[in-house]
Amino acid sequence: MTTFTVESAAAGLRGVLRMPGDKSVSHRALLVAARAEGRSELRGLSGGEDVRHTASAIQAFGADLVRIGKTTVAVNGSATRLHEPDRVVDVGNSGTGIRLLAGWAAAIPGLTVLVGDESIGRRPMGRVAEPLRAMGARIDGRADGTLPPLVIRGGGLRGIEHHPAVASAQVKGAVLLAGLAAQGPTTVVESVPTRRHTEEVLIRAGADLVVDEGTVVLRPSSLASFRIDIPGDPSHAAFWAVAASIVPSSDLIVENVYVGPGRAGFVDVLRRMGASIELIGEDPRSHTADLRVRAAALHSTHVGGEEISSLIDEIPVLSVAAAVADGTTTFVDAAELAVKESDRIATTTAGLRALGVDAEPRPDGLVVHGLGGRPPRGGAVDAAGDHRIAMSMAIAGLITTGPVHITGWESVATSYPAFREDLRRCVSGSAAKAE
Ligand code: S3P
Repeated sequence: MTTFTVESAAAGLRGVLRMPGDKSVSHRALLVAARAEGRSELRGLSGGEDVRHTASAIQAFGADLVRIGKTTVAVNGSATRLHEPDRVVDVGNSGTGIRLLAGWAAAIPGLTVLVGDESIGRRPMGRVAEPLRAMGARIDGRADGTLPPLVIRGGGLRGIEHHPAVASAQVKGAVLLAGLAAQGPTTVVESVPTRRHTEEVLIRAGADLVVDEGTVVLRPSSLASFRIDIPGDPSHAAFWAVAASIVPSSDLIVENVYVGPGRAGFVDVLRRMGASIELIGEDPRSHTADLRVRAAALHSTHVGGEEISSLIDEIPVLSVAAAVADGTTTFVDAAELAVKESDRIATTTAGLRALGVDAEPRPDGLVVHGLGGRPPRGGAVDAAGDHRIAMSMAIAGLITTGPVHITGWESVATSYPAFREDLRRCVSGSAAKAE
């Protein structure tokens, strides 16, 4: 296990960081390109291990993938060429990977076995297995077909109307990807809107898909090859937005950030807390903008309701902002946090407490008693195999009185392998080192 040590960034965060391609969009671009007829070109693909697993997965089903640059790949796809894989498909640590692949593989006649790491073994799969079974797929797994590994017998699907019980873009995505090869239309009705990346990528590939308010209707579609510039990852940008807000004298530009529907909730929350975040050059077509973030005194807020799905992955780092803010911040309606890469209600609380912050777990979130501008103390934190906990605690380390030692740092490679490089780039005077 790697330990990463972060020391305070006395001089503030400065300069320009360009965000690597979004993880959610990268998964979808690969899966859709594999079914699209001809050669699709994906530029700015996420370099994280999660997306690498999805890239290997589509190859196991017969898609041809050629790396033509550091972050550019060409996928020669064809729905008719895809076949059952001749090996078990490993998604690594990726919950998005396994859930989207479950739907995608359900559309392919034959047998697929999806496996992943220890954390994947704890991620609930009933939410995707149930609608896919209703569409005609045969799906089994541990714990009565609700936990990975998943065994899927695909093909022969019919469209359904699905009302997900949990607000989840992964569930919506899985059902829509299955619906591509179903008989009749597939409808997903969301009571709470979630990120729209599946819809966005399917439309780009020419799918017959209509979105009206919270209802998505997809008719079985053959897809055409496409080109995509994958926008920068807002979940990555959130780390820097919090860091530059809480470290005095910071003035940082974070370039190429997707701020489209369902992803930019962290900007609203930080602004509510008093952060200085300016959106520069917002492009309404690509939904990208650059963020200029300057240090500011933060105060507490309440985070809950519909906004949760637009910032669920950012709660660990928003909790770090809450830890230095003035007053008590509450995160509610976020029970889903407990079934992410780690139980993030427990791991975020434990991480903050290790740095002397008063934080309490709740069944559906957490309560953070801010230090009112005083810095937390240094300490040792366990990332618990969770990339977002590791990076959130690294951001906390930029303002603590002593060093923060994070064990399990290697988990960061699943989403943001360039995090350390980006940290060095914007922090002068920080002695971050890995052992
Ligand atoms: C994701 C959706 C969210 C998010 C995850 C990525 C996606 O999960 O937490 O990191 O790419 O669709 P849920 O769909 O379970 O809310």
